[in-house]
Amino acid sequence: MTVESVNPGTSATTALSEPPLAGGGFPLLGHGWKLARDPLSFLSGLRDHGEVVRLKLGPKTVYAVTTPALTGAVALSPDYIIAGPLWESLEDLLGKEGVATANGALHRRQRRTIQPAFRLDAIPAYGPIMAEESHALVERWRSGQVLDVTSESFRVAVRVAARCLMRGSYMDARADRICADLAALFSGMYQRMVVPLGPLYKVPLPANREFNRALADLHVLVDEIVADRRASGQKPNDLLTALLEAKDDNGEPIGEQEIHDQVIAILTPGSETVGSMVMSLLLVLTEHPELGDKIRDEVKAVVGDRPVAFEDVRKLTYTANVVTETLRLHPAVWILTRRAVTDTELGGYRIPKGADLIYSPYAIQRDRRSYERHEEFDPDRWLPGRSKDVPKYAMSPFSVGNRKCPSDHFSMAELTLITAAVASAFRFEHAPGSDIRPRIGITLRPRRLMVRALPR
Ligand code: HEM
Repeated sequence: MTVESVNPGTSATTALSEPPLAGGGFPLLGHGWKLARDPLSFLSGLRDHGEVVRLKLGPKTVYAVTTPALTGAVALSPDYIIAGPLWESLEDLLGKEGVATANGALHRRQRRTIQPAFRLDAIPAYGPIMAEESHALVERWRSGQVLDVTSESFRVAVRVAARCLMRGSYMDARADRICADLAALFSGMYQRMVVPLGPLYKVPLPANREFNRALADLHVLVDEIVADRRASGQKPNDLLTALLEAKDDNGEPIGEQEIHDQVIAILTPGSETVGSMVMSLLLVLTEHPELGDKIRDEVKAVVGDRPVAFEDVRKLTYTANVVTETLRLHPAVWILTRRAVTDTELGGYRIPKGADLIYSPYAIQRDRRSYERHEEFDPDRWLPGRSKDVPKYAMSPFSVGNRKCPSDHFSMAELTLITAAVASAFRFEHAPGSDIRPRIGITLRPRRLMVRALPR
């Protein structure tokens, strides 16, 4: 029995045909085995089968959307909500009512609450912290030293997010504890997603105990930070102030639990995505040393001999184009899922109510139909005269529509500043111990990257 046969549909949509079934499935397993074994190649090949294709994952039918225009249509349509297997695997950690997983009126209210902390005019206030952390990262490194890029990247990402969004001197002592907790949680979350063993993760094995300890400590930390902020009487223009001042639909302050959940729901994916991008940027700088040389020249031309600052970011156009091209080829968010809340139409096909949809920014952004020399790293494709050739929605690493990442400007400024600071100070070469194959978890990043920092 197919999903379609249990959802009769409205008369307008029943006349439509169902999308073609993607080829290459196996009896019983369907396409699940290929999706699990090599998801990036599998998803990248689907457009050859159609603009919308059906996949069989065991007994379940999932609809894959393969063109830029139709992924944009899905992201912008009210017929789809955030749901599906990816989110369900994260709900234990992020809660069911955090802004990233809520839907409908609750999501609209939460989004209105957090948005001011990420607005373009709020970001300059975070500039000194972003610059301080970028320089602190580089100052930790010595010429000739071999760096474990995973821990260095996640450390700077967590410290920037935590210090900017929950500003206060109480963070100085706590930022490293948040880093340690999130590091344990990120690896545990990845395992829980790829190997969904459910109750077995409750067995008191050392790895599960460490995951649970880190999660409990993160909850304690967030409560301590909220209490310290209240006690300080200060109200800087940041996310924590926005949450502490937020009102629900009846004009009452939102509850303690919601404030707490929201901090975790924003800090966790916010750090994981930026940490993954810093890793990918260091991989790019190691593989293409000439990019680092050009960034160093640009920084020198724009800022001279003083340290690069937040105010310089908008003039660092080449550096920003390297960040954009890294987001194209190595998008931290490589897969997105949605669920249809009504019988609807997509690309001329019928999509039944309740259907799960997936699409991949990775596949869309590497498609030869959208990009000349699609696999080549070319930051100049983002020069103003050339970027207009890119089809609409063929480059949406932060998504579009009502679920678009609120942190797009914040993240671009942060990544540009980090890249400028790092490439001005060092060149990089591979060191033994790397495994640069993509690690396909909640986010996409190199599995393990060891580099040697060389003097400029
Ligand atoms: C380069 C880094 C980042 C990338 C590539 C990225 C990407 C994305 C994408 C694609 C979505 C949409 C998800 C969907 O449509 O299902 C999203 C949502 C979100 N992102 Fe980011 N993100 C980044 C950094 C951050 C940071 C630093 C924060 C916060 C500190 C953040 C907070 C959020 C939140 C709260 C949402 C949910 C928005 C909603 O559902 O209304 N992101 N992000």
